Amino acid sequence: MAPIVSILFFLASFLLAPLPLQSADSDPLQDFCVGLINAFESVNGFPCKPVSAVTANDFSSDVIAHEGNTSNPFRLGVTRANVLAFPGLNTLGISMNRIDLAPGGLNPPHSHPRATQLDIVIEGTVMIGFVTTGNVLYSKVLRKGDLFVIPRALVHFEKNIGKGKALIFAAFNGQLPGTVSIAPTLFGATPPIPDTILSTAFQVETGVVDEIKSKFSS
Ligand SMILES: *[C@@H]1O[C@H](CO)[C@@H](O)[C@H](O)[C@H]1NC(C)=O
Repeated sequence: MAPIVSILFFLASFLLAPLPLQSADSDPLQDFCVGLINAFESVNGFPCKPVSAVTANDFSSDVIAHEGNTSNPFRLGVTRANVLAFPGLNTLGISMNRIDLAPGGLNPPHSHPRATQLDIVIEGTVMIGFVTTGNVLYSKVLRKGDLFVIPRALVHFEKNIGKGKALIFAAFNGQLPGTVSIAPTLFGATPPIPDTILSTAFQVETGVVDEIKSKFSS
């Protein structure tokens, strides 16, 4: 082959090769595997209910059909239809949350280590944003029908900035996205993270650390 042809062939092989994409959860090896959530065995996921015991009800759930309770300091109700609440999702790499926000409500900064999130605003006006590993904030004001995608593991928040209630449904490409809530993780851990670590990390006096801890200790 002439050099120019081999160079083109080399470039084309990169363009045409299937990208080594990896979904958040590993692919299932069977049609379904309704999770036995309380099984004695511990695996990466859950063991399957015997197919002979599976019914249509295993593939349906009303867990996010009802408004969440927003009577709390954040004016926030998060209801999770993950594999724990909806075992039919086991091994399928998908789940959904319902986020209810009373006026002024905030879903405070947190991250999901195991899934990318796609929010759809059903009601209200919300500000949603995430911060990259380079500390760049991407945020937008969204209204009914708008989508916003939050890349896996990045810290993000949702805030109701409208006059009425807000309702968001969040889809995840994982059956159990997990949640790292920034404030409770740092200020409400058991046993507590020593004050000296947090006072240095945040460059404040330990009294400030104690005050924040008092709000997140369980
Ligand atoms: C909502 O949560 C608050 C605070 O935990 C509780 O007092 C109240 O009973 C709950 N309301 C309902 C309808 O469950």
